[in-house]
Amino acid sequence: MNPWFETVAEAQRRARKRLPKSVYGALIAGSERGQTIEDNQTAFSELGFAPHCAGPIGERSQATTVLGQQVSMPVLISPTGVQAVHPDGEVAVARAAAARGIAMGLSSFASKPIEEVIAANPSTLFQLYWCGSKDQILERMSRAKSAGAVGLILTLDWSFSHGRDWGSPVIPESLDFRTMLRFAPQTLARPRWLATYLRSGSIPDLTAPNMRLGEAPAPGFFGAYGEWMGTPAPDWDDVAWICANWDGPVLLKGVMRVDDALRAVDAGVAGISVSNHGGNNLDGTPAAIRALPVVADAVGDQIEVLLDGGIRRGSDVVKAVALGARAVLIGRAYLWGLAANGQAGVENVLDILRGGIDSALLGLRKTAITDLDRDDVIIPAGFERALGLSAGVPSPQLAER
Ligand SMILES: Cc1cc2nc3c(=O)[nH]c(=O)nc-3n(C[C@H](O)[C@H](O)[C@H](O)COP(=O)(O)O)c2cc1C
Repeated sequence: MNPWFETVAEAQRRARKRLPKSVYGALIAGSERGQTIEDNQTAFSELGFAPHCAGPIGERSQATTVLGQQVSMPVLISPTGVQAVHPDGEVAVARAAAARGIAMGLSSFASKPIEEVIAANPSTLFQLYWCGSKDQILERMSRAKSAGAVGLILTLDWSFSHGRDWGSPVIPESLDFRTMLRFAPQTLARPRWLATYLRSGSIPDLTAPNMRLGEAPAPGFFGAYGEWMGTPAPDWDDVAWICANWDGPVLLKGVMRVDDALRAVDAGVAGISVSNHGGNNLDGTPAAIRALPVVADAVGDQIEVLLDGGIRRGSDVVKAVALGARAVLIGRAYLWGLAANGQAGVENVLDILRGGIDSALLGLRKTAITDLDRDDVIIPAGFERALGLSAGVPSPQLAER
């Protein structure tokens, strides 16, 4: 079979065929009835384009800067805990991102240490959860800084909802001999995935090395998750505290409301990602792209506004940029590529996005990604969601500012 694939949808089909059922299910993720995960993609197909049929066009440029990083296109790798997808995990993703000139977000729950990832892509931002005591949070930030992280992604949108109508994957705490036997029927049914691990001489590593503290061994994924669940949720002063203690840009990921976006500006963030955690958090939250325009209008002149959730093609990137995003982050799209063909599969996905962005720019007769504006996109009536802003009237919270 030709390892090259032409769409992200095809990468997903290959991932489904290649991965053991529980690993594939962990990437599908989502929550409850799946309303938000579905809307993240449906919303993009509700948006149209208003192309020109002629006009001057020469070279088209996708280059831009995001949080101080020069990038070849407005796409970043969103942080994900990818554990058992591929033996090279985040290092393969980082190499692909570096090869294509884009920045990488590395999850706290990643399977590879930050030092190895930054060696593969110096343009790496470390993603932090509010987890443990302030001293422990500072220790993890300090390790990221020493490793060379160029920014921090603070992810706060999480509500520990685990039920899924389509069933949740069974993920073991660790892989010992007995567990491997239990999972054998699934893994033996996926010989190519198994062969990739056998060739690498490793088994899936279910630890979270970036959550290690002091000289203690790296905790298991569930140990780290338990620590996070047991930590009282942060408030806006805590966000300001993070910004004050990080020498560099902080991106707050998971903002859906205008009032939160304004408070994030007050707290000192350099950017926000309008995001619902890829539909994995509070089901019923609208698609991120529906919330983007009003948030970008409110704070886009003060901080960088990014978006993540539902990006599967280059034209999705162009729609998001036209509606006010400086760049987007991608999650599942690169995970499907990684599962389908390792580093080359992630590069394949990035090339698909680049090609799609270029076609859209050509159709819209724009020479640079930074020239896009709302007139390029057809927005149906009722598409947008103004969260935290009731019919244009500032909410009581906003009035307090
Ligand atoms: C399997 C999986 C694991 C994720 N893990 C994290 C994580 O550790 N930290 C984080 O900030 N976001 C995490 N996310 C959310 C992504 O960063 C991103 O917000 C989301 O995937 C974007 O939606 P998309 O997958 O439709 O592109 C995860 C998403 C998935 C699918």
